[in-house]
This record gives sequence, C-alpha cells and structure tokens, in this order.
Amino acid sequence: MNNKIKAAITGVHGYLPDFVLDNKKLSEMVDTNDEWITTRTGIKERRILKNGGAASDMATEAVKGLLEKTSTKAEDIDLIVVGTVTADYPFPSTANIVCDKAGLKNAFGFDIKAACSGFIYSISTAAQFIETGKYKKVIVVGVDMMSSIIDYEDRTTCVIFGDGAGAVLLEPNIEGYGVQDFILRNDGEGRKYLVQPAGGSKNPATIETVEKRMHFVKQEGKQVFKFAVTNMAEVSAEIMEKNNLTSEDVDWLVPHQANLRIIDATANRMGLTKDKVMINIEKYGNTTAATLPLCLWDYEKQLKKGDNLILSAFGGGFTWGAVYLKWAYNS
Ligand code: UT7
Repeated sequence: MNNKIKAAITGVHGYLPDFVLDNKKLSEMVDTNDEWITTRTGIKERRILKNGGAASDMATEAVKGLLEKTSTKAEDIDLIVVGTVTADYPFPSTANIVCDKAGLKNAFGFDIKAACSGFIYSISTAAQFIETGKYKKVIVVGVDMMSSIIDYEDRTTCVIFGDGAGAVLLEPNIEGYGVQDFILRNDGEGRKYLVQPAGGSKNPATIETVEKRMHFVKQEGKQVFKFAVTNMAEVSAEIMEKNNLTSEDVDWLVPHQANLRIIDATANRMGLTKDKVMINIEKYGNTTAATLPLCLWDYEKQLKKGDNLILSAFGGGFTWGAVYLKWAYNS
C-alpha cells in the first residue's frame, strides 16, 4: 500500500473514421507501391475522415464512448487535455470544443501541441492535476486529422499518415497503480526537418503560401528517422534504468507508430521480445497524437492489473519522451 496519489488510467476508448485508404488506392494517386510502403514503414492502410469532419468530431466520439464505457457522467469530468497538431481552428482550442460537444459542462480544457509526442506530453501534464489531489476525473485525448495537412501529391509524406482519436480517463489511485514516472524532451532545431511551414504567425495564409503548398507537412524523412530511431530507443532505455526495470519487468512497450523499423529498434534497445510490443501501424498508419491511446484501446483486453507499460514517442519539434505506468484494471 502506498498512500501517495497516482493518476491511473481507468478506461480507454477510440474512434477511427470509416473510410479506408489502402496502399493500392494510394498507388493510384502518387508514384508509389504496396511493396515500398510495407517494407519501409509497415503500413498497409490508414483511415481518413471525410464529409467536412474535424479533429473535435473524432475526439468527441472517443470521449463519449469513454464516458459510456466507464459509466462516467459528462458533468463529473474536471479537466480535458487534448494532444493535437490539427486543431479545428487556431483558436479556440479543440479541448474547448469537445467540452461543448460532449457536454463536459464543469470541466476546463486545453490543447497540447507536441506532434507525435502529444499523448506522452498530455498524460504527463494531466497526471499532475490528479497527483496534487485537486482533481478526480481527467480525460486525456490524442487526436489528429493528418489528412487536413497532408499533401496527397507528395509521396514521401502521404503514405505515412492517417486520422484517428483515442481517449483515456485518469482517476486517483492510492494502491500504487497509474503513472509512475515520465521523461520529456525537446529540441527546437528539429523544425528544420519536420514542419508545417504556413498558417501560423511566421507565414500567415496568403495566396502565395497556398500556391507554394506551404500549409502541408514537410518532412525530411531520412533525417527525422535518424533522430527518431536514436532518441526513442534511448529515452525508453533511460526510463527503465531510472526505475530499475529489467526487460523481464516490462510487460508492454506502447510505442509511437511512425515506422515499424523505429519500433523494432526501440524494442531491441529495451531487450523486449516482439510479443511485448503493441503494433497496429499496419491498420492506421501514423495518426500522430492518437497512436498511443489507439494502441491501448486495441490491446486493452490483453492488459492485466499490475502490468508495467512503457509508453514511448518521438515527433515534430523535435519532441520525444517516455512514460512508465502500472496498468490499473482487468477488462
Ligand atoms: O512521426 C513523426 C516522426 N516521423 C518519423 O518518425 C518518420 C521517420 N522517417 C521515416 O519513417 C522514413 O524516413 C520514411 C518512411 C519517411 C522514408 O523511408 P526511407 O527508407 O528513409 O526512404 P528515403 O527517404 O531514403 O527514400 C528512399 C527512396 C528515394 O528514392 P531514391 O532517391 O533512392 O531514388 C525516394 O524518392 O525511396 C523513394 N521514395 C518512395 N518510393 C516509393 C520516397 N517515398 C516513396 C514512396 N514510394 N512513397
């Protein structure tokens, strides 16, 4: 028994749009093929939100499903933290809009912009509000509608990304379950290699920015790969060492789903066998802030109370980090 309050995940839910964009359809849009995409990334298909939907719509679906599943009243939620780089608008925040759409009348909320590390940054931040004893029910969402900022004429980026949302409920736990530790890092020089150049105060929208396709994601894949493969592996090993965890102690690696080769390198560095690694990249591609909660959602039934999970991510910023948590329930 440990009386210190920890923030435990007590439920997880997700939302994925119906439309499936598979490698075959993509190869009719740009000069690519299933073999290249599969061997270089591990991705087979991704989901795309159509019909004028926005990030808040996916987040709201995930939140509503989470509330229903955990028998939680919308008005009992104290706070919602949304990790996203594809907010509906520059302002207000996606969190504000989700509060309205999902009826979170007594909550406050804010967005965290940390690209593919959005969920790691968000859950670490949200956990603090529980650990202080101030709040009892906090929702953390990772959502991205990458199709809204992807150039479907650029084969180097359009094959990678997809849309989706995942949400978890955090509640206080005094039995030692929940978030144990986190390490968060950033290096702003990474903006040279991964950036959405226009639409912010540096390059506000003009006819020229649109004509130059500057509102789309630009990525130097090889450079990002080098940083990602090193840093995601290192930070995952670091959080294990810091918490005296051996590879036997770790039950699950929950890795950001950017590239199967990055996931494999991280698992190898941690000394984990494949059966301990959550992988769904083949179905959804890289959904940016949504990859980690979507993994938890997909694997929820296999998780057991007391399992040690290491969540790990790397993304635009650069941002990266790892979270160590003890799973709090059996499904
Ligand atoms: O989640 C946020 C962080 N992002 C990441 O973690 C992404 C990290 N980077 C990557 O995952 C990989 O770098 C990519 C998947 C983006 C690219 O894989 P790569 O093995 O690094 O390929 P490359 O960029 O070195 O390109 C190799 C070749 C090039 O042709 P040449 O110059 O060798 O003739 C590219 O033009 O593959 C070509 N290529 C493609 N061919 C078919 C690039 N994209 C495609 C494509 N289909 N979609």
